[in-house]
Amino acid sequence: MTPQPLRVGLVGCGNISDIYITNAPKVGGYIVAACADLDLDRARSKAAQHGIPKAGPLGEILADPEIDLILNLTPPGAHAEIGLAAVGAGKHLYNEKPLAIEIADARKLLDLAERRGVLVGCAPDTILGAGYATCRRLLGGGAIGSPVGAVGFMMCKGPELWHPDPAFFYRRGAGPLFDMGPYYLSALVSLFGPIRRVSALNRVTLAEREILSEPRRGQRVRVETPTHVSATLEFDAGPVATLVMSFDVWTHSMPPIELFGSEGTITAPDPNGFGGPVKLRRRDAPGAEEQPLDPGHAENARGLGVRELAGAIARGDRRSASGELALHVLETMHAVVESGDTGKAVTVRSTVGAWNRSAAEPAPV
Ligand SMILES: NC(=O)c1ccc[n+]([C@@H]2O[C@H](COP(=O)([O-])OP(=O)(O)OC[C@H]3O[C@@H](n4cnc5c(N)ncnc54)[C@H](O)[C@@H]3O)[C@@H](O)[C@H]2O)c1
Repeated sequence: MTPQPLRVGLVGCGNISDIYITNAPKVGGYIVAACADLDLDRARSKAAQHGIPKAGPLGEILADPEIDLILNLTPPGAHAEIGLAAVGAGKHLYNEKPLAIEIADARKLLDLAERRGVLVGCAPDTILGAGYATCRRLLGGGAIGSPVGAVGFMMCKGPELWHPDPAFFYRRGAGPLFDMGPYYLSALVSLFGPIRRVSALNRVTLAEREILSEPRRGQRVRVETPTHVSATLEFDAGPVATLVMSFDVWTHSMPPIELFGSEGTITAPDPNGFGGPVKLRRRDAPGAEEQPLDPGHAENARGLGVRELAGAIARGDRRSASGELALHVLETMHAVVESGDTGKAVTVRSTVGAWNRSAAEPAPV
C-alpha cells in the first residue's frame, strides 16, 4: 500500500521556500499543509500564492495534530530553537542547513528526537540527485581504483550581490563554510565516509561588507565569521581532501569537486545541484569522458530530502534520516574554525555509521 504523503508545516516563508512548495508534487512524499513565519503577512501571502490551506504563527502549527513534519526554512540562527520546539511537540523535522549553529544544540535536537520517537533530516538533499549517485557508483565500482583524496572549491564574491537580506550570511554559523560547506562536506562524506581530523587556515578579509542587492543596497554588515577558509580533511578510510570556501573571490577556474584514485580521476558536479556533469579520466585514457548519469533527479529537486525522510518514517528506518550526517558535518565545520583559530589539527568526534552509499540513495516512497 502506498503510504499517505506526509503533511508538512513549513516555517520560514523566505527566499528558498517557493522551491520546496512547488517541488512537492514533483518529488512526492509530502504536501505542504500549513506555513508559518515571524512575519505573519508573509506567511499569509505565501499561503495565498501557493494555495496552502493554513497560515499562522508557529505555535498554532505545532499544536495542529494534522501536521506530521516541520520543514524549517528559517535562517541558521533560528534552526535550533524551532527544531527543538518541533521535535518537542512530537513532530518529525527536516531542517535547512546547517542543522544548528552550535554542536551542543544539534546533539540536543537529535537526543530529544530519539526520546520522542521522531526523525530528523537535514539539507542538503543535492547528494540524493543523479549526479552524486553516479559518483558514488563509479567510486564504489572501482572506476578510479583506490581513493587517494579530493579537492573541493566554492569561491565567489558573496551573497550580498544577490540575496535580498544577506546579513545572516556574515553572522556566526554562516559565512562560506557554514553556508556552502554542508553541500561539499556532505558530498565528500557520502563518497568517502566520515572525517576524523581537520587542519585549516582561515581569514576575515573585510571587517564589513556592503550590500549590493535590493532592497538593502548600501547598508553595511559586520562580519563575524571567516570569509576565506582553506582546510585539509582526513577521512577515516584514509583519503585526504583539500577544501577552499570563500566569499572573497571574483573569479576562478577550479572544479567544484574532483576525486583522485590510484587509477584515475572523477570530476564531480557542483554539489549545490542535483545533476551532472560527471567526468571520468582513467590513468591510461587520453582524456576525460562524460559519464551517463544514474536514473534519478538531475534538475532542481529541493524537497527530495523531505521525500527521503518520509520514506524513512514510513519504513521506521531511523538510519537513513540525515540528521546524523548533518551533525557530523556541523562538527567538522566547527573543527575547521577551531583549527584556524588555534593553529592545531582538530579531531572530529562524531561519525556517520549509516550514511553509506546504499543509505544515500533515495528510497521509493
Ligand atoms: N536562499 C537560498 O538560495 C538558499 C538555498 C539553500 C538553502 N538555504 C537555506 O534556507 C534557510 C533560509 O534561507 P532563505 O534564503 O530562505 O532566508 P530568508 O531570509 O529569505 O527567509 C527566512 C524567513 O524565515 C523567517 N523567520 C526568521 N526567524 C524566524 C522564526 N524564529 N520563526 C519563524 N520564521 C522566522 C523570516 O521572517 C523569513 O521570512 C537558511 O538556512 C539558508 O541557509 C537558502
